[in-house]
Amino acid sequence: MTDEESINILNSLVPKQLDINELIKNPPKGDTEDVSSKPSGCPYLNGSAPNKPMRMNSVNKKFPEWQTSISVASEPVNYNDYLKLDKILDAQYPESTKYGHPAHDEHLFIVVHQAYELWFKQLIFEIDSIRDLLGKPIVDERCLLVVVQRLQRINLIWKLLNDQISVLETMAPTDFLDFRGYLSTASGFQSVQFRLFENKLGLAEHLRIKFNQQKYDYLFTDSETKEKIRKSVEETSMLKLIEAWLERTPGLVCFEHHENGDKVEYNYLLKEYEIGVNNYLKDTYLKAAQEETDEEDRKSLIDEYKKTLDAFGTIFDKEKHDKLIERGERKLSHKALWGALMIWLNRDEPRFHLPYQMLSLLTDLDAIMNRWRYNHALLAQRQVGNKSGTGGSSGYSYLRSTASDRYKIFNDIVNLSTWLIPKEYLPKLNEDLKKRLNTFD
Ligand code: HEM
Repeated sequence: MTDEESINILNSLVPKQLDINELIKNPPKGDTEDVSSKPSGCPYLNGSAPNKPMRMNSVNKKFPEWQTSISVASEPVNYNDYLKLDKILDAQYPESTKYGHPAHDEHLFIVVHQAYELWFKQLIFEIDSIRDLLGKPIVDERCLLVVVQRLQRINLIWKLLNDQISVLETMAPTDFLDFRGYLSTASGFQSVQFRLFENKLGLAEHLRIKFNQQKYDYLFTDSETKEKIRKSVEETSMLKLIEAWLERTPGLVCFEHHENGDKVEYNYLLKEYEIGVNNYLKDTYLKAAQEETDEEDRKSLIDEYKKTLDAFGTIFDKEKHDKLIERGERKLSHKALWGALMIWLNRDEPRFHLPYQMLSLLTDLDAIMNRWRYNHALLAQRQVGNKSGTGGSSGYSYLRSTASDRYKIFNDIVNLSTWLIPKEYLPKLNEDLKKRLNTFD
């Protein structure tokens, strides 16, 4: 490709008022380099540092909001200033030193907690960006790749947070005792960002385990924090956004045209799936019961058939499903659950590739956070046994009870496995649906 051709392509990508030729001839203020020929690598170690700034004025107006812009700097940037290292590295003040009995491990204790809070900040940043994209009245399917990438990032950060526990485990319980008394009532229980992340994901207030008969937020007394927590509860959570998105799953709803001219909406998958399930259960239990000669074994096969049929009834019958939601045993609406099953069963169809990955990543997130809750409980037990926590809870036993299904947000998706039947009983997509789920029509 000639230079002229490349410049024409670049020109077609940037807003009309910006001409690439003009940008190259007359770079904005400062001793700048041609951005298009910049080598990759550490931004502080190539030709731009310390006196040659990269151009950083955002010129992007044309790209979708989830895509990056061409950017140009107008002033030199220094590593230490950029990262505000003066502030971050001057934020470790062990209490034990203050009291004149420096405890070596308190430095690690502080740094690990600070690193957690920084990562919590990043997690909130990522989850908010995903909530923004999914919160649009019409979700542009092209943004799903970015949603998947950011969910992958969130999960990797949680994995990192799990690994950080092992670093704290290098502190012996006796060494923790050297400064634990100085912590007074300070506890991770007071981490505002942790609560914000839980709320933004969709952890319902009524499912939280109370400690000392108190709600988790009684500790937050300053008005700014209370407001942040209130907003995080009231804003539409990730769970609710995913629910609304699943309810709109393409191909889930079909229309029947009646002779009188009425057009009636019905759940395509539910209707077809019920037939498949009935056939599967009959073949598995009733046929086997017919062939069984032992009376007791025959009875137990028939009992099993009835039990399994009843269980499936809770996904076929909306009223039964809604009762389970009231009891906190299910979280997604009936329609959303079927949307998820539609994606789960038809993941090979091109339009479901990314939705399938999204759902898998959400279930992974639940699993990783649950693992963190469990590992953190074990850490607390290792350090303080069955003593109560500095925040006033029963300590290990309280933390252990949070590592449960109550705290999993997307458990309904993991539990889809309960409702899977062998492939030969699954409904086939008709030609019309196949077309709708293909990206090429
Ligand atoms: C020696 C290490 C640690 C011990 C012994 C410990 C102990 C505890 C205990 C006993 C609680 C229950 C509340 C209370 O009564 O205080 C708690 C809560 C909590 N801790 Fe830790 N912790 C440790 C490290 C960490 C770290 C590194 C983090 C990272 C931010 C953390 C975050 C939290 C959070 C978020 C809660 C609230 C959990 C909930 O209510 O679901 N902890 N911790």
